Amino acid sequence: MTRTVGSFSEFSYPNNPLFNYDGAIYTVINDKNLLGSGRAGSVYKAVPDDPSRPSLAVKVVTERRGYDPCLGMCNEAGWNQRIHGIGFSSKKSLSLLMPLVIGENLHDFILNQSTVSDRTVMHYWILLALSVENLHKTHNAVHGDVKMANAMRCVNPGGSETIKLIDFQYTASVGMPAPLAGILPSCCREGGMAPELSDGSITATRAQDYYRLGSTLLCLLKRMSHVSQEVKTSVTKITNGLCWHNVQNRWCIPHAVYELECALTIIPRYPASATFCTLLDSHIDVLAGEMYAATQETIKLKTEKQTALREIQKALLDPRDLRTITQKVASVRKTYPKVTAGFFFLRTKTLLDELLRCEKSSTTRALQ
Ligand SMILES: Nc1ncnc2c1ncn2[C@@H]1O[C@H](COP(=O)(O)OP(=O)(O)O)[C@@H](O)[C@H]1O
Ligand SMILES: [Mg+2]
Repeated sequence: MTRTVGSFSEFSYPNNPLFNYDGAIYTVINDKNLLGSGRAGSVYKAVPDDPSRPSLAVKVVTERRGYDPCLGMCNEAGWNQRIHGIGFSSKKSLSLLMPLVIGENLHDFILNQSTVSDRTVMHYWILLALSVENLHKTHNAVHGDVKMANAMRCVNPGGSETIKLIDFQYTASVGMPAPLAGILPSCCREGGMAPELSDGSITATRAQDYYRLGSTLLCLLKRMSHVSQEVKTSVTKITNGLCWHNVQNRWCIPHAVYELECALTIIPRYPASATFCTLLDSHIDVLAGEMYAATQETIKLKTEKQTALREIQKALLDPRDLRTITQKVASVRKTYPKVTAGFFFLRTKTLLDELLRCEKSSTTRALQ
């Protein structure tokens, strides 16, 4: 957990808040410093009077009829505090102070590319999905408003990229009341919220983020220009998996990511073993996540499944002979007959079947 840093106070300048954060004075509103805008307001860069201090970001919330702007603002400040150690809200100026994320949101980044391949768009969706999975695992939190515009693409000094989630106004711990449920825009498949949120459900679940990822993927698919019928069919299958109306049927993130990676890999449907290991990792973590709500008996089952998957992972990391993977999966299935048992049996079964199928096709190719 990140430590709460610094003190915070605000000077009252209508429409132009000045913040004292940890001893530095931050000037905020200046149109040159506008970083972006969304449904809830505009975000500006907040510049300190002391150049040795880091710049921050301030969201100035817009008042809208029939909606208390403080709810989302306070919630967002709290989550920024929890995740990054900086997050303060001011009811006086309806604004919130948070860390500055240097980069561009994924929605704008993709739009601003003069040429962007469908594959690149899917690549960024995968990165978005994995950062949501990471939020689920690290903070046991549901983001609540997953979309491309709420994720920033940051370029690290070495040139590699990181995706950071922003906009935590609808974020909640798993099992806690979903903030603003019921007053969210009503559900529509493309880009829409999970239907249960407008059907009266008030509890935050990871499955609500799965749905939102599915509806985001559907939006992206509609915009894709050169997509083959084969890829279209596979991606549609994934959006359907993530957007099941019945929450229990919704695919988890590793499953969706895995299917998309396979759909995008043109000839070999065999993902790199490192990718497979990561997916097995996520699968193992999802099992661990589910243990929160599990009974003694299901905990035993899930632990056994985890052990079985770790054994396969070990074999994958040492692929001296691809055929050993088939043998390994067979022997794991024999030792742990319950590896594909339980409520979510399909999830593990798909993973294992796919692994064998991929291996088979790659062995066939190797022989050609
Ligand atoms: N902490 C931040 N650092 C840098 N830019 C940000 C930050 N937060 C938001 N932005 C930019 O402002 C835009 C709108 O912010 P967001 O929090 O999504 O507002 P809204 O709640 O109105 O949707 C984002 O898409 C992003 O471009
Ligand atoms: Mg937003």
